[in-house]
Amino acid sequence: MTEKKLVADALTAIISEHISEEDIISLLEKPKTAQHGDLAFPAFSLAKALRKSPQLIAQEIAADIAKDSFETVEAVGPYVNFFLNKRNVSTQTLHDILTQQEHFGDADIGGKRAVPIDMSSPNIAKPMSMGHLRSTVIGNSLSKILEKINYSPVKINYIGDWGTQFGKLIVAYKKWGSEEAVRNNPIKELLRLYVDFHEEAETDPALEDEGRAWFKKLEDGDAEAVSLWQWFREESLKEFQRVYDMLGVSFDSYNGESFYNDKMAAVVELLSQKGLLKADQGADIVDLEKYQLNPALIRKSDGATLYITRDLASAIYRKETYDFASALYVVGNEQSVHFKQLKAVLLEMGFDWANDIHHIPFGLITKDGKKLSTRKGKIVLLEEVLNEAISSAKEQIEEKNPSLADKETVAHQVGVGAVIFHDLKNDRLNNFDFTLEEVVRFEGETGPYVQYTHARSASILRKAGWQPDSSQRYSLGDADSWEVIKLLQNFPETVLRAAEKYEPSVIAKHAIQLAQSFNKYYAHVKVLADDPEKESRLALVYAVKTILKEDLRLLGLDAPDEM
Ligand code: ARG
Repeated sequence: MTEKKLVADALTAIISEHISEEDIISLLEKPKTAQHGDLAFPAFSLAKALRKSPQLIAQEIAADIAKDSFETVEAVGPYVNFFLNKRNVSTQTLHDILTQQEHFGDADIGGKRAVPIDMSSPNIAKPMSMGHLRSTVIGNSLSKILEKINYSPVKINYIGDWGTQFGKLIVAYKKWGSEEAVRNNPIKELLRLYVDFHEEAETDPALEDEGRAWFKKLEDGDAEAVSLWQWFREESLKEFQRVYDMLGVSFDSYNGESFYNDKMAAVVELLSQKGLLKADQGADIVDLEKYQLNPALIRKSDGATLYITRDLASAIYRKETYDFASALYVVGNEQSVHFKQLKAVLLEMGFDWANDIHHIPFGLITKDGKKLSTRKGKIVLLEEVLNEAISSAKEQIEEKNPSLADKETVAHQVGVGAVIFHDLKNDRLNNFDFTLEEVVRFEGETGPYVQYTHARSASILRKAGWQPDSSQRYSLGDADSWEVIKLLQNFPETVLRAAEKYEPSVIAKHAIQLAQSFNKYYAHVKVLADDPEKESRLALVYAVKTILKEDLRLLGLDAPDEM
């Protein structure tokens, strides 16, 4: 039972005539200082109903309430302050974690219903950007959080593998490219060709026409166009795969934009049947004025379909294929209008389930306050960042723990963990400035700090040769352990909050707090001292290790036992 529920239950027993348990829970506050207890109930809320002063109400509640779950209940001004019974709560919490292990905090909210998560979704023939990294790690973490509360996430990599740019790329390749150069370094070479094309096109506008013509050929299934496109696609995917392997992220589907080519005509037909298409200078649009949005451009005057047309087809396909409870799109904030339009068009088509579509936006990674761009070749290569972080982890391991077995693996787990955690620790909508030194920093509020705390707890348990014994009744009553116990006990609530807000940072913040409070505890208390509470202290260490590992897992980080 969560601490709020404990207090709410006791309050409900005496004031349920005037206020619901739900309202009590939402009114309970966490006092800023420990001397005001673990939770406080503001009595103002009842003043009107009871026609008494809040101070008097607080005193009456403190006098009447059942005290079994509490050490003390006291009225201070208009507040009732509750001091939980540390021994009871610690016993319950340690028992729950030691018996449920990593399943502590599991809940059946989802009833196994599917939640497709559109994530990563880089564009072929271009390097994966930092935005795609954000989408990948946020989507991956959300999939684990949702799975924990019994949804069935479906991780979809909606590869950007269709559009007029591939006509341009074919033109550039035929004019200035070579098979060898592409084979040697596919994305770099394809990017060069793409950039060259745009530079040349500034002085030679005929190139644009050639590009369009080749894209038309591609759409019509011309053998040469298709085989070039397929080759570019394969080479790009191979490179993306290297990054995914490093990050430890996998996908359930790689159905990208081109997968929907043969499903587009039906969407346009449906839109037209429903009378939603309007001709506008030869193009077809859907008017969205009543949503206060610009019209959605569905088909260009040359018949070509657009990004949103493909997203309409893919949304309908996902509903038909997965019958989803909700569908998430982890895509940068700059596309928020696109997703508003997508939902609006689907609603106009009569699809109520469009309300279950959620754009999960995130902020930009900036450099000196400016947006990073892939145009003009000015890019931060993700793989380089990851490799840099890994070698920095390796240096630190060499320095601190030179005799560690399997240094390579641990350096990988720590270096990659640093990059992922750095991305997930702030509210996802925040922009943040990218500096390599910051990403590979291991002190402070970082992934390696949490991993290190986990490894430390593992080493304490190793030293003590300790295993949990479910027949034991562990219990702690001191103030130092209490801060740790409260965070452990809050973990299930934390998971729910992260899921409700689609916010991995909620988990990252919990991990940091738990690591910090445990390190403080360890500095104050002699855990291994031989006295009657030693067993309970070790049970606490074990519980901390279990929950830190689970926090890290939900974020997509490994938790090595030694580092
Ligand atoms: N490929 C797109 C880009 O890099 C992201 C796709 C997002 N997903 C979607 N269903 N539109 O900007």
